[in-house]
Amino acid sequence: MNRTVDTQQPIATPGTGQVAIGMPLHRIDGPLKVTGEARYAAEHPVADLAWGVVVNSTIAKGRIAEIDTTEALSVPGVLDVLTHDHRPHMRSLGFMYKDMTAPKGSPFKPLHDDKVYCSGQPVALVLANSFEAARHAAALVRVSYEQEPHETHLLSNMDEAFEPGSLKAGYSPPPKPRGDADVAFALAPVKHQAEYYSGVEHHNPMEMFASTVIRAPDGHLTIYDKTQGSQNCRWVVSHAFGLPKDKVTVRNPYVGGAFGSGLRPQYQLLLAVMGSLHLNRSVRVMLTRQQMFTFGHRPETWQRVALGAEADGTLTAIAHEAIAETSQKEEYVEVVVNWSGQLYRCNNVRLGYKLVHLDQYTPIDMRAPGAAHGVHALEVAMDELSYQLKMDPLALRLKNYTDHDASKDLPYSTKALRACYEQGAERFGWARRPAEPRAMREGHELVGWGMATGIWDALQMFARARAVLSADGHLEVSSAATDIGTGTYTVMAQIAAAAMGLPLEKVTFRLGDSTLPVAPIEGGSSHVTTVGSAVEGVCEKLQKTLFKAARKMPGSPFSKDRFAQVFFKDGAVWRRADPAVGARLVDIMASLGQASIEEKYLMLPNMLKQKKYVRSTHSAVFCEVKVDEDFGTVRVTRVVSAVAAGRIINPQTARSQVIGGVVWGISQALHEETLADHALGRFMNHNYGEYHVPVNADIEDIDVVFVEEDDRIVSRLGAKGVGEIGLVGVAAAVSNAIYHATGRRVRSTPMTPDKVMAL
Ligand code: MOS
Repeated sequence: MNRTVDTQQPIATPGTGQVAIGMPLHRIDGPLKVTGEARYAAEHPVADLAWGVVVNSTIAKGRIAEIDTTEALSVPGVLDVLTHDHRPHMRSLGFMYKDMTAPKGSPFKPLHDDKVYCSGQPVALVLANSFEAARHAAALVRVSYEQEPHETHLLSNMDEAFEPGSLKAGYSPPPKPRGDADVAFALAPVKHQAEYYSGVEHHNPMEMFASTVIRAPDGHLTIYDKTQGSQNCRWVVSHAFGLPKDKVTVRNPYVGGAFGSGLRPQYQLLLAVMGSLHLNRSVRVMLTRQQMFTFGHRPETWQRVALGAEADGTLTAIAHEAIAETSQKEEYVEVVVNWSGQLYRCNNVRLGYKLVHLDQYTPIDMRAPGAAHGVHALEVAMDELSYQLKMDPLALRLKNYTDHDASKDLPYSTKALRACYEQGAERFGWARRPAEPRAMREGHELVGWGMATGIWDALQMFARARAVLSADGHLEVSSAATDIGTGTYTVMAQIAAAAMGLPLEKVTFRLGDSTLPVAPIEGGSSHVTTVGSAVEGVCEKLQKTLFKAARKMPGSPFSKDRFAQVFFKDGAVWRRADPAVGARLVDIMASLGQASIEEKYLMLPNMLKQKKYVRSTHSAVFCEVKVDEDFGTVRVTRVVSAVAAGRIINPQTARSQVIGGVVWGISQALHEETLADHALGRFMNHNYGEYHVPVNADIEDIDVVFVEEDDRIVSRLGAKGVGEIGLVGVAAAVSNAIYHATGRRVRSTPMTPDKVMAL
């Protein structure tokens, strides 16, 4: 039996009473954000600040012949213009620039030499006493190029595809084939085969990439950077410029969204440091919205899926191939096809994943990288097969359900996907779905219902945490974690408060500073399983220290107790056998006679235990669309997302994560695509006017159901992480609903009205 978390229960406001795991809490940082007190990377006030504005390449490939800065330098207030032949020393070796998530290859080094390898590449940095002067002068920098022919079009370069040998963190190449998918496909009585295509998408967080480098008189640099990992950025800055670790501090206390774009240090960071080292002064560089389209993106991806089945729906063949783009410098890889070998029971599976080098910036992770494409194609293909079989799409998934990952020959640590299907279908009313397409209509709108499965990894990395309890009973826990708007501050404080039996107002969680105990980048939905487990671990150490001290207090009620026989609640430690008997933490602290006590803890994943299982989160997404028959416009009127992601620490912030994922899934389905002019090799719709993201008017009813699991293999908290699973499968459910509404199958995203009408 799986308990369902009620996401509709009243939400507590932080500050009062006993806190527990599983209690919905508003975000601690909410008031700071809505009142503007939370400062983002470009908002920190600095005395005597210089400003840097980036000049970007207008060609996609070639070399810089000349940069004429005469006119720019004549603008009043302009201090200098940095270029590849006029800049501070940087290390020339590529590996010096490798960050924690760098793929195979040589990371881009801004202003390193005269080579241009993609359109939008930064080629100069104008430094001035004011932003206005720098911006104006940037328009006056004259760059002449020797242009070379470029290739930016994936589909016309597919015969150049190669199998990547990348060892990027979190990436596994497709497993070897099992059985013979091609023979099984040829023999299958019912089959479906099709090609799928997804265009480029760019991250569009509210906060633009920015770095404020504050130079102390002794040369120490404190850098406020927009990043998903302060220590990752500190590492790269130190190595790129040969600066000792204690000369650079990177801070990111608040991040205005990132979605993966901040997993790698972006070029404005290195440029801002360069400016500061050159001027011996504090420098800020902030990118414009247009410049947000000049670095990594979700890669354009082509896929082919072939599915074979018996007449009763039993899958006999799965073949899934993908070809995606990468840059000329690096092999950016994602797990696109592997999911197809694990999600359903099938004996004959062949998976392939290849890359094509294009003259583009290296792509970068975007929420649920790989799965957003790969599971999409698989789940649309499964829907197509269900119609061939004349079988309900949900019944087809259940027919091929498995608790065993045949590609790794391992069981799942926990897998409540069946309960997700059942509870999601129930909540949606799936049983009332007519089997035939074009069977429901409301006025001029055709109504359709579609569903899809989602899957994502339940990852755990390693982290340290520190806990300091003061004599007044205030607890500060810290780790160099990041909160990209997901609720890290809140859930970490919640985990600590619940462990120590303290109200939330007595707990502060500090993050976003490279000098804090080591934490990984906030990526892969792993911060709760990783940093959260470190927080609980350090609190347990603190509990033990306090318990020992409590036993030594004069007349201690605990003199005969062991640690397992007490619990922490309401600011005190209590005997389990006699819950009215206890000692207040402040009194224990007073008995120690210390101003504070400190504990540190290193959380290492239990890899011996973990490697015996496949660890994943799952979802079942049900969706209703209404399609205007005349105009092909699609409204997603209802989504039910049933998610199994382990124990839910905070149903309020977790629900918000899944809603955000569903919104982006709808956006992937209907709105987002960056279009290139391949004659110029350049992205054209680099603004909010022409790059469509959904607004409130595009989003209707979203219902989130958590089917709770308790997975102590993934993490000591029982949690698995919820950031990315909310997106996976959503676009497929929309696509499948469009087919059910109209009888038209759209195999590329976004499914814009022209595509919906054209078929
Ligand atoms: Mo996420 S794409 O791992 O920030």
